[in-house]
Amino acid sequence: MSFLDKHKVLETNATLLLVCSLLVVSIGGLVQIAPLFWLENTIEDVDGMRPYTPLELTGRDIYVREGCYTCHSQMIRPMRDEVERYGHYSLAAESKYDHPHQWGSKRTGPDLARVGGRYSDDWHVDHLRDPQSVVPESVMPKYSFLEDTVIDGKYVAELIATNAMVGVPYSDEMIASAQADFKAQADPDSDYDGLLERYGDKVSVRNFDGQAELTEMDALVAYLQMLGTLVDFSTFTPDASR
Ligand code: HEC
Repeated sequence: MSFLDKHKVLETNATLLLVCSLLVVSIGGLVQIAPLFWLENTIEDVDGMRPYTPLELTGRDIYVREGCYTCHSQMIRPMRDEVERYGHYSLAAESKYDHPHQWGSKRTGPDLARVGGRYSDDWHVDHLRDPQSVVPESVMPKYSFLEDTVIDGKYVAELIATNAMVGVPYSDEMIASAQADFKAQADPDSDYDGLLERYGDKVSVRNFDGQAELTEMDALVAYLQMLGTLVDFSTFTPDASR
């Protein structure tokens, strides 16, 4: 029987074709997936990555709730035009504490993976209130209503505990002091040594100039200002041996 004849048998017998296709697909799948189970680590650790502070995590939830990811990605691809515009390409480790990831697949607006520190807090507040007031041609919606909802971190310990449950390395101490840390990040007069001790010195403390209460706007800005600032790329060298 020639090869063509054998193939004809396969092509004219639906069940046999199905069985053989399944076999081929599962071999292909196994070859790709199986090695991942034997690798010690599929993410290269980088210095500087830390779990998000209670205020940043709260802001992140607002980011997800408002669907910012429908217009903004948080993943800089390793291509020259992207790296020149946004900075160092994103590393897997930079989103290892994200549940869920905010990589995104749509860029109506720019990538936000490294937006932290690029603008002042005031710029962000003005921009979120009314994007067209700072960028006249912007199609971004207004989010001024975020200033109307006061937040006090009542449930922030639960939020941190939930993230710990899915693998983010929050310690019991971090969970216990979540509400205090939440408040400390927005008040330079409070004792925020504990916050810095737990989360490292890359926590940016906002000064609300005597503003009585924190709003959703403040949490969102704290989150945006942290994005892309944790890893120090002036000292980072990719470990090509892995
Ligand atoms: C309908 C699409 C759309 C949505 C939804 C949207 N944006 Fe934007 N965003 C844009 C566009 C377009 C720009 C560029 C023009 C500008 O700066 O306003 C932008 C710019 C930005 C910038 C400035 C980035 C830079 O590097 O200059 C930030 C920060 C930002 N958006 C944050 C947010 C956040 C936070 C949310 C959710 C609360 C959000 N955006 C929702 C479209 C959107």
